[in-house]
Amino acid sequence: MAFIDGIADFRSDTVTRPTPEMRKAMAEAEVGDDVYGEDPTVNALEEESAAAVGKPAAVFVPTGSMGNQLAIGSLTRPGDEVVCVEAAHVRNYEVAAAAAVSGVQFRTLPGPGGRMTAEEVGAAIDRSHYHMPRISMLVWENTHNVSGGTVVPYDMMVATTAVARQGGLSVHIDGARIFNAVAATGTSAVEFAGLADTIQFCFSKGLGAPIGSILCGSEDVIEEARYIRKRLGGGMRQVGVIAAPARIALRDRDRLSEDHEVARLLAEGLANRYPEAVDLASVETNMVVVDAGAFPFPVAELVDGLAGRGVVIGTLGPRMIRLVTHRDVNADDVVRLLSVVDELS
Ligand SMILES: Cc1ncc(COP(=O)(O)O)c(C=O)c1O
Repeated sequence: MAFIDGIADFRSDTVTRPTPEMRKAMAEAEVGDDVYGEDPTVNALEEESAAAVGKPAAVFVPTGSMGNQLAIGSLTRPGDEVVCVEAAHVRNYEVAAAAAVSGVQFRTLPGPGGRMTAEEVGAAIDRSHYHMPRISMLVWENTHNVSGGTVVPYDMMVATTAVARQGGLSVHIDGARIFNAVAATGTSAVEFAGLADTIQFCFSKGLGAPIGSILCGSEDVIEEARYIRKRLGGGMRQVGVIAAPARIALRDRDRLSEDHEVARLLAEGLANRYPEAVDLASVETNMVVVDAGAFPFPVAELVDGLAGRGVVIGTLGPRMIRLVTHRDVNADDVVRLLSVVDELS
């Protein structure tokens, strides 16, 4: 049985609802005006988050998009270029904020799985003419959402980041799901973040809080980010009410490995039935990308059949399905999903 209203929602890890413990913490949160730096719950969250990734400072933001954009705004100048993979969230799904807000453009690399090699980045930033934009920043996304929650390996990040540093670039990690990368690899968040000037991570994804993300970095960069946050209308007041569940989400981050186990169960269940449907090697964290073209029935029938059993899934085009695990789905829900596949087969 799913946890929420009998519905098992596999569309995204953003769909979790706050736990009773989180709701209680929201109701009881000590608050103050955070624009004056006087919300004790936010201050505690910022300290705990900075410590979790080994940075001196952090600023709480409403969304991951704002966290990424504050990093870009703080570390670039208008007219600069930012290097990232083609399918980066920061490039494709933030409504061109980098151009509209910070006046920068992206220089993209193919980046399958979110990965960029040292050679690729070296070639991309090898420029010496005044005709050309200044390339001033490299952005990693780890785990990489659109590739199906794939991990960018630490060793690759080390080698590629070194080349970027030699070229004078600053480095940001869009770590919306960095703790999924940690759970999958054993590399610590401090190690990943140690490669970058800034890292943002989301409380509202697999960590399971209702709202919020955080940007971590040096005191100077975070001070600059606070100005841009205010400029964008992100100066929030008695925001301890949302920082309180985020603190619980951060405290409980080790539970992400359970989501990975459920994703693996799901992937194996599908691959046992239809081997062409799932590339098991690509299932590294909490997402399973399914080629529904391998099923002998149309995707629409599957979506309808599952809906009839209270299972919600999302499609990525006519044949691809992305299934995401999180705190509010479990192994029983996987059984429920697979039973509908069996009925349609
Ligand atoms: C990798 C990545 N970065 C950033 C974001 C943006 O987060 P938000 O929706 O909180 O703006 C998302 C959201 O899905 C994401 O997947």
